[in-house]
Amino acid sequence: MPEILLATRNAGKIREIRRMTAAGGWVWHGLDALPDVPAAVEDGATFAENARRKALHYAQATGLYTLADDSGLEVDCLGGEPGVHSARYASTPRDDTANNRKLVAALAGVPLERRTARFRCALALARPGELLVETEGVVAGLIIDEPRGDNGFGYDPHFLIPALGRTTAELPPDEKNALSHRGQALRDMLPRMEAHFQAEGQRGV
Ligand code: IMP
Repeated sequence: MPEILLATRNAGKIREIRRMTAAGGWVWHGLDALPDVPAAVEDGATFAENARRKALHYAQATGLYTLADDSGLEVDCLGGEPGVHSARYASTPRDDTANNRKLVAALAGVPLERRTARFRCALALARPGELLVETEGVVAGLIIDEPRGDNGFGYDPHFLIPALGRTTAELPPDEKNALSHRGQALRDMLPRMEAHFQAEGQRGV
């Protein structure tokens, strides 16, 4: 497989994507290895748009195949917020604890059955100047006030999967990945990436 830049500095995402691809022989480079590359502007209206922008930006800047993940939480009774603002919902720089506190405060007085929400993940693969593959995954849940669980990251301690009676922070990593928005998007992405690289018959850009 060619070497691919994973265009995110979010340690939680990197951990999950590396774990889900560990058996496949994929070689990922993190953005941390490239401190001089300027950050992409993430002001798109949708996760898909931001993923596309990030993939194209970092592919162009580095000359590498680049996989970008843009993801976050949509809460129905908040009109889809925090949505594309998920990382910096409460403040800049990002602060998961402050985000979760703001989310719980925004839902004060809302009964559980109206706290429907979903995590959405958009993935985009690009090479310099060309968008190659896009996928998306969603997982539905309910937002609870009291945080539960130590796994995962971000909003996971407040994201209850009703059928399991557990938050995504209470699920072991493999269980979260099996049902998560990121897991779905990646399972759709990987065979399409493989097919692309096979068709190209090359090992790099
Ligand atoms: P990004 O890294 O700028 O795309 O920010 C995504 C934000 O969405 C993260 O900082 C989290 O707050 C949230 N998010 C995305 N995926 C997950 C997840 O799997 N669990 C919990 N929070 C997530």
